[in-house]
Amino acid sequence: MGINLLHLFPLLLLPLLATAEIPQELFLVPPEPLILDYHNGPLLTGNYSVNIIWYGNFTAAQRAIVADFITSLSASTPAPSVASWWKTISLYKGGGVRITLGSQYFDTKLSFGKSLTRTNLSQLATNSGTHRNSITAIFTAPDVLVEVRSAREIIRDRV
Ligand SMILES: *[C@@H]1O[C@H](CO)[C@@H](O)[C@H](O)[C@H]1NC(C)=O
Ligand SMILES: *[C@@H]1O[C@H](CO)[C@@H](O)[C@H](O)[C@H]1NC(C)=O
Ligand SMILES: *[C@@H]1O[C@H](CO)[C@@H](O)[C@H](O)[C@H]1NC(C)=O
Repeated sequence: MGINLLHLFPLLLLPLLATAEIPQELFLVPPEPLILDYHNGPLLTGNYSVNIIWYGNFTAAQRAIVADFITSLSASTPAPSVASWWKTISLYKGGGVRITLGSQYFDTKLSFGKSLTRTNLSQLATNSGTHRNSITAIFTAPDVLVEVRSAREIIRDRV
């Protein structure tokens, strides 16, 4: 008898779980509209790794925040999560990209100085090696100036 009950229990539980997980309202609500305007530009698709260049000194905690965020983009965590937000891209025509954390490089000696031009940035990214299907993100310490778009538009880039 005891054994029979144990076998029955999961079977009885299953329909209950199924109704609990799918609320009735779900069937009445239309799918969420695409909230971002799509201007028909190309979308990133496929699998990419993000390599990080740490330019300057960062604490382990600062680096962990960034690394964890990148890792969370394609984690299999249920919504609401960074991964479910990131999946929004796949709602757009041809979109959908899987991001993984690639290599991390450290430039604590500031080999291009404390003021980076766009040329310096691309040189810095190239020096870390160019890899197929990878994106390089450069993080600069608070005391490093970074040129953005034009020589007149110098911003202070902080983590
Ligand atoms: C991306 O990676 C996943 C899992 O590793 C794989 O199933 C899929 O085919 C890959 N997609 C492309 C476009 O390489
Ligand atoms: C980063 O830290 C190292 C070791 O403490 C030090 O030698 C180096 O000068 C620091 N770099 C900057 C840009 O402050
Ligand atoms: C950084 O870029 C500027 C021009 O954009 C160049 O003059 C300078 O030599 C570069 N610095 C290094 C260390 O290559």
